[in-house]
Amino acid sequence: MTETLAAMAEAVLRTADGHEKAALSQSLAARWQSSREAGAPLDIGTATPPDRPARPARPELLDPRDVPRRRPGSPAGRIAMLHAVAHIELNAIDLHWDIVARFTATRMPPGFYDDWVKAAAEESRHFKLVTGVLEAHGSHYGALPAHAGMWRAAEDTMDDLMGRLAVVPMVLEARGLDVTPDMIALFEKAGDEKAVEALRVIYAEEVGHVAYGSKWFHFLCGRHELDPKDTFHGLVRRYFHGALKPPFNEEKRAEAGLPPEFYWPLAENRATSAR
Ligand SMILES: [Fe+2]
Ligand SMILES: [Fe+2]
Repeated sequence: MTETLAAMAEAVLRTADGHEKAALSQSLAARWQSSREAGAPLDIGTATPPDRPARPARPELLDPRDVPRRRPGSPAGRIAMLHAVAHIELNAIDLHWDIVARFTATRMPPGFYDDWVKAAAEESRHFKLVTGVLEAHGSHYGALPAHAGMWRAAEDTMDDLMGRLAVVPMVLEARGLDVTPDMIALFEKAGDEKAVEALRVIYAEEVGHVAYGSKWFHFLCGRHELDPKDTFHGLVRRYFHGALKPPFNEEKRAEAGLPPEFYWPLAENRATSAR
């Protein structure tokens, strides 16, 4: 059997255990990268990615309204926050492999696959870093309930690559850039050096993921002769079901190729119509 990148992506999506998923993701990413460096890239191929990725029996997945809230300043609150980050990172591994496996009918340059495979490998590292911190605190991924809605954006955009790029890297991962500095400050205040270190790695690397989103979104706008800003607004209004919440990290967003005129109009429109 010829191994293809899409088949490798599907294998990650079908792995339920978080640590196994992260390890497989890293080793398959390395295999893709070395095939590229050797000048003999693996075929992209095709796959049948599952509608939803395999998940472990724990954590229990709850509607966000039912996930218990804890005071962020307390030790239990900080554990809950790290657990939520671990859950986000696990979903992010799958999101990046899913974009590789799901849209193979659209011809994309090899650099597209390089970027998302690299992003998937980084998310795998983020998951390991954060679960390592949880374990150092005597907890683990699966010890607390987690958010059930994480795959919603992927399901909503399973037939629309540009919609996927608009909503996942350019809205959801960009949101990560907005909230991570406060999180780092919170763990600094608590003297949790290990958590601070992990979050700093995440913060630095997530800029790249947003940038990949913006890069390939603009690439496809060019291919189809679409106006990037108007197209982005249309797709986010169509597929994204929450408010874009200021304050925005304007500096890091700009660094990632996301100018204010992309996100501010959406926040203002939502602010007057939401709830
Ligand atoms: Fe991440
Ligand atoms: Fe990411």
